[in-house]
Amino acid sequence: MNILILGSGGREHTFTWKIAQSEKTTKLFVAPGNAGTAKIATNVAISVTDFPAIKKLVLDEKIEMVVVGPEDPLVQGIHDFFLNDNALKSIPVIGPDKSGAILEGSKEFAKEFMARHNVPTAAYQSFTAKSLEAGYEFLETLNPPYVLKADGLAAGKGVLIINDLEEAKVELKNMLVDAKFGNASNKVVIEEFLSGIELSVFVLTDGKNYITLPTAKDYKRIGEGDTGLNTGGMGAISPVPFADAEFMQKVEERIVKPTIEGFQKDEINYKGFVFIGLIKVDNEPYVIEYNVRMGDPETEVVIPRIKNDMVTMLTAVAEGNLDSVKLELDKRTATTVVAVSGGYPEAYEKGKEITGIDNVTDSIVFHAGTQLKGDTVLSSGGRVLAVTSYGNDFKEALATSYASLEKISFDKMYFRKDLGFDL
Ligand code: AMP
Ligand code: GLY
Repeated sequence: MNILILGSGGREHTFTWKIAQSEKTTKLFVAPGNAGTAKIATNVAISVTDFPAIKKLVLDEKIEMVVVGPEDPLVQGIHDFFLNDNALKSIPVIGPDKSGAILEGSKEFAKEFMARHNVPTAAYQSFTAKSLEAGYEFLETLNPPYVLKADGLAAGKGVLIINDLEEAKVELKNMLVDAKFGNASNKVVIEEFLSGIELSVFVLTDGKNYITLPTAKDYKRIGEGDTGLNTGGMGAISPVPFADAEFMQKVEERIVKPTIEGFQKDEINYKGFVFIGLIKVDNEPYVIEYNVRMGDPETEVVIPRIKNDMVTMLTAVAEGNLDSVKLELDKRTATTVVAVSGGYPEAYEKGKEITGIDNVTDSIVFHAGTQLKGDTVLSSGGRVLAVTSYGNDFKEALATSYASLEKISFDKMYFRKDLGFDL
């Protein structure tokens, strides 16, 4: 089977690495890809949201399945684009159509979906510029800290958590009236603050059957001890030690099942990964958010723990018989540590030569923001590499990732040395 993967990060390199291992894979393409995917597949320099260019590539190369990494093409309707095109409609797209992608594209929609299907989540109300005064009044009824969420996609930056009531009101106005996050904050969801420890659960579904994939925990802040600015993710651990069988039973019954049943009741065409961001409050799970894709860097620890043939799994998703697949897991813990460009998530320099990757023997080096220039690997983004290792527990796996990182270098390379500190 010829397969196209859309995206260019560590998540997509991991998908490529896994799909390349399948005997069912004939030709593998990645658009646009990175230096890591270039070594095991064919990179094609087209954007993930350039649907006409993707169509041409799919037809020219006789692609038989498209696996979508990031949310943007899904929210913009790539699945619908395929279904509505006579030449493309028989080619499966792994990732929901717009009716499902809106779970990530609109926080208000996601909250309404959860309310409709009794999925536990923080209490909330949503507001627009017209209802600004009502928003102030709602804030006054809550205890600090105040959680303000831009309704639309804001590149992971649209959530503000503010301790002071007056400051929260100012920010609410900034979002609604002064378009702090552009159109994404035309509407703002204000939520009750939940205090607990976060983790993510990943589910693969054909819209009816589903498989709950391993849990993972990512480390979003740039600084050690979870301080400083939010990033795309500085590392991840799977499985999450505190997500024991009893807790996961609650997640399954109260969250995963009603979510999948909700897709059916609402006639949402969902074939793909569901990323459920959870918070554990006094041993009870609540949903913080849905994403309609895998997480990055969570993919770099979840996928390497799956023993099944990925093409078989994704074909079952496309054909609606995922109940035929039995998940087989590597029992070991996997960790990944992300090496970033100095300065990230603020301004940083690109184009730095990366050395030592080939000296790493005990870990898998997934590329994120890299590109090839001749035979040289250069940095080309904030998150540059994700170094994944296995171990009998997270400490052992992390020790291996850190030892491997010692062998790699590029100018102003930075990574967090304290992953797992809170476990
Ligand atoms: P989101 O983009 O919805 O995942 O929110 C970003 C981050 O804000 C989450 O990972 C949480 O750390 C935090 N957060 C979001 N909603 C809440 C909430 N209701 N209570 C506490 N923290 C929250
Ligand atoms: N690591 C968080 C995300 O992928 O959204």
